[in-house]
Amino acid sequence: MAQAKLKLGVLISGGGTNLQALIDACANSDFPAEIALVLSNIPDAFGLQRAKKSGISTSIINHKDFEDRDGFEAAMTAELKDAGVELVCLAGFMRILNNTFVGAWRDRMINIHPSILPAFKGLHTHDRVVQEGVKFSGCTVHFVVPDLDSGPIIIQAVVPVNGDDTGETLGERVLEMEHKIYPEAIRLIATKSIRVANGRVQINDGNYAVDGVINPALVN
Ligand code: GRF
Repeated sequence: MAQAKLKLGVLISGGGTNLQALIDACANSDFPAEIALVLSNIPDAFGLQRAKKSGISTSIINHKDFEDRDGFEAAMTAELKDAGVELVCLAGFMRILNNTFVGAWRDRMINIHPSILPAFKGLHTHDRVVQEGVKFSGCTVHFVVPDLDSGPIIIQAVVPVNGDDTGETLGERVLEMEHKIYPEAIRLIATKSIRVANGRVQINDGNYAVDGVINPALVN
């Protein structure tokens, strides 16, 4: 019997190109995960259309409809649980999450951030990278913990910064790498190839010779 696929809940607030990368990965019958629900806090987020086009269930939970963060997040957890979600994937979800939500999904929630964490946490990453004259940037998939853009790192990919880069041109190249490493991180989790010990991710997977060191060139 085929192994059951890991059920993903993808949280978005915007365009959803990372969501699209996950939709495309899940379209491959060998991929060990499937998207059970796409949830947006922004009613007209373009990512919702991407999901609908692929026949994926969607839900809108608008934070503005709630008096406080707790009510908003309780509604999200209820919806995710109803859909049978096992792993929450933040993909451009632009709300800070409080400790109750993060605790409810501890070790079962991941995020993608467009920098080599712990450098350049927060917003406007690429503009700040260019301003600082940093030579390499990139992206990170990590487990979510209460502190913003922190938590055990699963995969990082490095992207060189060119002398003539603007935040926008750099962001485009980083995004291409995001689309490679996000599905790959999910594959590692779904195949139980990852272990978190002492706040560090260890990877036990034939594709990677060294724990936690990933050469994105190896990612198809
Ligand atoms: C990505 O750069 C992601 O790293 C960040 O928000 C952006 C979302 O882009 N967290 P998209 O909506 O997936 O296109």
